[in-house]
Amino acid sequence: MEKILLNFNKTFDFISKDSIFVYKQEIEKHNAALHDKTGKGNDFLGWTNLPSSITDAELADIEATASKIRSKKIDLFVVIGIGGSYLGAKAVIDALSDSFVAMKNTGNPLVVFAGQNIGEDYLYELRELLREKEYAMAVISKSGTTTEPALAFRLLKQDIEDKYGKEEAKERIIAITDAKRGALKTLATSEGYKTYVIPDDVGGRYSVLTPVGLVAIAIAGFDIRTLVKGAVDMEAVTGKNVPFEENIAAQYAAVRNELYRNGKLVEIFVNYNPKLHFLAEWWKQLYGESEGKEGKGIFPASVDFTSDLHSMGQYIQEGERKLFETVISVGAPDQEVVIPTDKDNLDGLNFLAGKRVDEVNKMAELGTMIAHVDGGVPNIQIVMPKLNEYFLGQLIYFFEIACGMSGYVLGVNPFDQPGVEAYKKNMFALLEKPGYEEATKAIKARL
Ligand code: PA5
Repeated sequence: MEKILLNFNKTFDFISKDSIFVYKQEIEKHNAALHDKTGKGNDFLGWTNLPSSITDAELADIEATASKIRSKKIDLFVVIGIGGSYLGAKAVIDALSDSFVAMKNTGNPLVVFAGQNIGEDYLYELRELLREKEYAMAVISKSGTTTEPALAFRLLKQDIEDKYGKEEAKERIIAITDAKRGALKTLATSEGYKTYVIPDDVGGRYSVLTPVGLVAIAIAGFDIRTLVKGAVDMEAVTGKNVPFEENIAAQYAAVRNELYRNGKLVEIFVNYNPKLHFLAEWWKQLYGESEGKEGKGIFPASVDFTSDLHSMGQYIQEGERKLFETVISVGAPDQEVVIPTDKDNLDGLNFLAGKRVDEVNKMAELGTMIAHVDGGVPNIQIVMPKLNEYFLGQLIYFFEIACGMSGYVLGVNPFDQPGVEAYKKNMFALLEKPGYEEATKAIKARL
């Protein structure tokens, strides 16, 4: 099996190699606790063996749903969800899609998102677009009670029913939610939508390899079997009996914690391929929501290089020395673009003639890495041989299992998110939701 590679040699100016191996016993214990489901938050550890337990029948069912929806000749597929209920699908679809998919006829439906914000203009403009297009939708919420997607679905449900009639609308709506609880489950059962269950023991940000991510990815035209296969293979090589020396996820967890303990409080997720922008958003949620609690946690940030070298590059090179970078380096691009010779050479670029654009990108990556290390920013590199379903599947599981181990090293429960409730409580109080009368009075007194 060819696998993604982890290279942390460029952290050794800041932390010693020996200091990483000090974590061996502790992290092997944490990895076992994750797989045995005995660690903190163990009622949310269903994702640790999820890839290897997905059945052929489950994948076939998702593929059949995707074919049925695609056979309706839809232009757009709307995914309604927020946080873990949208970022995984968005990350994978963007990574695998043509950069100009929205403007080209690829033969695949374009996947668009709703309920991931409460922007009124966004919703207005989406509804306006949907009036002119053929579409179907998935509404995704594990809890089934999240305000943002519920609000978007209330509007879009009415629109789709008005456009296609109630019966055909039912054929175009998929609900993905908890097995028993939540308003969305009640609604889906009463309307008779095709429904997928999010396993009880899989939290939102660990759910991309459940129907939460797989349905939209399949509808977008990508190969969910190969995506899952990548994750299955990564599950095997990061399993509980794999020693620290061979377990790249365990090593990543150790390196980032050692950097953190040495004052590197911010981890910047770097890509040199714009298709990976949303992989960074997915990763930020995974690590931010899992580790940022009890006054602790590395702050996860991200940049798109080389674009952001012309905006954030200055800070990274010379600002506060609290940063380290984790760079996703993609081996070879899918397409080839060779730089031509120009007889006048007025732009002075003939020294690049005959080279591929990717060669320039790779030299930018190498040059930046050396400059940033020289400037005091340790560098972790993760190499993906190709940007495809298989290596994305590996990468997803790699980051998930590493996050579990890393959170345990930090001493937190990586599978809850109590802090997310604070804004909701205030928002409901301000909106005078029934049951919030006291909170409404209290918050209004503070305005
Ligand atoms: O990781 C998490 O659990 C959260 O980010 C959720 O995914 C997010 O809050 C959306 O929740 P739900 O799917 O219940 O609507």
